[in-house]
Amino acid sequence: MLISLRTRLVLVFFAITLLAFTALYLYVAPGLRSRLLDARLTQLATAAREYSPPVARTVGSSATAAEIRQRVDQASRGSQTRVTLLAVTSAIQPSGPQLTPVADSSSPTSADQLRYAVAWKAIHTRGLALGTESRPAGIVAEAAMPVSFDGRVARVIIFSSPASDVVHAVSVVRQQILVAGLIAMLLALIGAYLVARWLTQRVGRLERAAERVASGEFEHPIAVDSRDELGQLAIAFNDMQRQLGMLDKARKQFIATASHELRTPVFSLGGFVELLEDEELDAATRRRFLGHVAEQVERLRKLSVDLLDLSRLESGSLELRPESVDLGELTRSVSAEFEVTLAQHDAHLELRLSGQVEAVCDPVRIAQIVRILIDNALTHTPPGTRIVVTAGRRNGTVKLAVRDDGEGIDGQALPRIFEPFFTADDQQGSGLGLAIASELAGRMEGRLDVDSRPGQTVFTLEIPA
Ligand SMILES: Nc1ncnc2c1ncn2[C@@H]1O[C@H](COP(=O)(O)OP(=O)(O)O)[C@@H](O)[C@H]1O
Ligand SMILES: [Mg+2]
Repeated sequence: MLISLRTRLVLVFFAITLLAFTALYLYVAPGLRSRLLDARLTQLATAAREYSPPVARTVGSSATAAEIRQRVDQASRGSQTRVTLLAVTSAIQPSGPQLTPVADSSSPTSADQLRYAVAWKAIHTRGLALGTESRPAGIVAEAAMPVSFDGRVARVIIFSSPASDVVHAVSVVRQQILVAGLIAMLLALIGAYLVARWLTQRVGRLERAAERVASGEFEHPIAVDSRDELGQLAIAFNDMQRQLGMLDKARKQFIATASHELRTPVFSLGGFVELLEDEELDAATRRRFLGHVAEQVERLRKLSVDLLDLSRLESGSLELRPESVDLGELTRSVSAEFEVTLAQHDAHLELRLSGQVEAVCDPVRIAQIVRILIDNALTHTPPGTRIVVTAGRRNGTVKLAVRDDGEGIDGQALPRIFEPFFTADDQQGSGLGLAIASELAGRMEGRLDVDSRPGQTVFTLEIPA
């Protein structure tokens, strides 16, 4: 069963309050009762010690019953308790020793008949004994003082006072705890309900926003109404929404540009095919048209290979086949591929290799990067440019650099040249070369950096050796 956050919070609030008040009720109230009774017994003990001696002195003396009665009454008045003098009859009787009232400050008819359990305790311990006794009229606190005569306890003086006021006070406290508990529980329920509703409303807002994002809507951020955890969550959520929006825009842009790039050569091809269908074309024109067709097909081929590479790189599915590679040899052979193009551009390429440069890497992909860089140094520079390719090893890394003394890259364009489809001049490139090269470098745990100023552009590939 699904218990909502709101119900859970309300239950927890309720349970905590219930627990607190049950503890109060079960622990504080009985504790209070025993402390109050103890205090009452201590009072009685003090009274017993103070007012016993005059009564005790009558034992074994020739005091008359009236005199004894008078002393008992005096003790009662002084101590403001009921005082009872009990005689302990000898233990020789078959039923054992017995207690018989000799004098009582209250008249026996109006006063409750007590059983004097404490008296027996006093007889046995031969010392002051304290205790309580439950009577129909309520609880009674008692202090019993034994009086010895002839080597045995002959009398016991009982100081007693009703303790029902204590019981009453405790029950009042209990009742108040109960009432306060009920009110607190009600308040806890209302409070928990309100807090929970406020929280769930905010969570609900986040949930609805997440649904909107899931359905492709990235425009409206959620209002951040506080600095607490949910506020932080809202901020993080807005951040995520913004980034998703940017990604979504980039993806749409990518598809739009890619399809545009593909459409241009396809349309151009269509045009040439239509022209070639004309039967009256002379051989020279036909050859020229076929040359254009071949050019567009090559452009399409390159574009589709590049797009495939980029998508594999971005999805992480491009596999590298690392092996021990002599980078000097590799750059030499890639440079050789450009012999014809170099001659066409009247450019010069110089190779500078510092010793033996060996590294474990995928030779095909390194060659691809070098090819992209040399191609750029040729196509984006004026004729007669000098290109220098260097390879060397330093601090555990291998560095491959392609430098040209062309016009350099525009400062505003420089930060964007690694973006797919970005081109900074009107050479008919697709703008995928550097994007692929830098993604490849990243996959090899290396990096591709650029440093460009008027008169010099250097691309440096750095990979772990
Ligand atoms: N060596 C260079 N000199 C000047 N500009 C360059 C150089 N290399 C790259 N660029 C600029 O960077 C852009 C991106 O390069 P690239 O990704 O290879 O795309 P493409 O070569 O297809 O235009 C180029 O359009 C060009 O403007
Ligand atoms: Mg290029």
